[in-house]
Amino acid sequence: MNKTITGFSKLSKSEKIEWITDTYFKDALSAKSLLKQYWNDDKKLQQLHDEFIENTITNYYLPLGVAPNFLINKKVYAIPMAIEESSVVAAASKAAKFWFDRGGFKTKVISTEKIGQVHFMFQGESTKLEQFFKVIKPKLIENAKPLTKNMEKRGGGILDIQLNNKTQDIDNYYQLHATFETLDAMGANFINSCLEQFAETLKEEAQNFELFSSEEKNIQIIMSILSNYVPNCLVRAEVSCKVEELTENPNVSAQEFARKFVQAVNIAEIEPYRAVTHNKGIMNGIDAVVLATGNDFRAVEAGVHAYASRNGQYSSLTHAKIEDDIFTFWMEIPLALGTVGGLTKLHPLVKLALELLGEPSAKELMQIVAVAGLAQNFAALRSLTTTGIQEGHMKMHLMNILNQFEATSEEKTTLVNYFKTHTVTHSTVVEAIEKLRQ
Ligand code: MEV
Repeated sequence: MNKTITGFSKLSKSEKIEWITDTYFKDALSAKSLLKQYWNDDKKLQQLHDEFIENTITNYYLPLGVAPNFLINKKVYAIPMAIEESSVVAAASKAAKFWFDRGGFKTKVISTEKIGQVHFMFQGESTKLEQFFKVIKPKLIENAKPLTKNMEKRGGGILDIQLNNKTQDIDNYYQLHATFETLDAMGANFINSCLEQFAETLKEEAQNFELFSSEEKNIQIIMSILSNYVPNCLVRAEVSCKVEELTENPNVSAQEFARKFVQAVNIAEIEPYRAVTHNKGIMNGIDAVVLATGNDFRAVEAGVHAYASRNGQYSSLTHAKIEDDIFTFWMEIPLALGTVGGLTKLHPLVKLALELLGEPSAKELMQIVAVAGLAQNFAALRSLTTTGIQEGHMKMHLMNILNQFEATSEEKTTLVNYFKTHTVTHSTVVEAIEKLRQ
């Protein structure tokens, strides 16, 4: 069967659904009705979501949960998290409560610089290009003024532009490497617009530069784009307490727990196989808040993982130590986030999430997000080095299995109680449901 189509984007939403379901589904009617079931009855709200992207056929729901009791720099937050993984919000809430009683999280924004580059080819003498760059640098900034005026009024804008010679890596390859301060905006549009303007100025001015030969005048722009690697947009989050305060359980030695915890972090520092999973756990917390607050989690993921490899080997984002009987656990990560622009004023649930957080600035949000990551890693390492991860995971997974079997509320209550003292596996749950229903 020929499954291609021309002009799909021009079809109405109903026509798109019609074509998709008729072409790809055995039971087109059921597929159609499922897609429509996820539409919002409020037509305006539905249209808003339809217009976020192209070719929308329905909405794709993720749960929005809240992890309360996060004490960050003496202020208490309830953190919104959008995520499908069953144990993440519970783990965050537990870690929040644990550290609430031990002074909470301390955070600090270290730097807020964003980066963008114009990549171009120049065939000629690099010393002449350097001379040219010196002459036109003020013009690059001047010509971008219509774009930067408002940002400058608020205290942001272009911080610097440098010329980088990359001809050792690729013949004739140079770049304008620009740094920006974008305040409460993530800044992608602002940065990309500035970069495209720089590229324009670069090309134009080269035509007029008398020292250039005709070949040198012909600068070829390859592309102008921000970098999602932001090693100078850094935030630090930390917790610490006396080692003896680390456990509430008299059967677990606090010293032993602290030592094992630090060893687990050390392992992730030197072993990439472990580091990837360790950092994945951190991103469970980070992505959930980034998503709930309407930020770009792909950008954050790409930047964070690049940062985790900055020393040539992929490594742990978190660190831990015991010194003078004090346990300290911390993380520094790059986070380019915004609390204005993008989806922030558009998506009703993003607006709600930001209000829940007290309308944070981008800097405050960086600190909240970093804390969510650190808390998540603390919770994961605490389980891994004590009970093992499956105990907690399977408890949460229990609900997913019960839902798969369309368990009623009474069945859920009975089985959740039963599994407080029995091991959860897929087969034990299925067996218990079957037994209950006999
Ligand atoms: C699961 O989503 C995340 C963990 O694997 C993280 C870790 O191993 O540290 C539990």
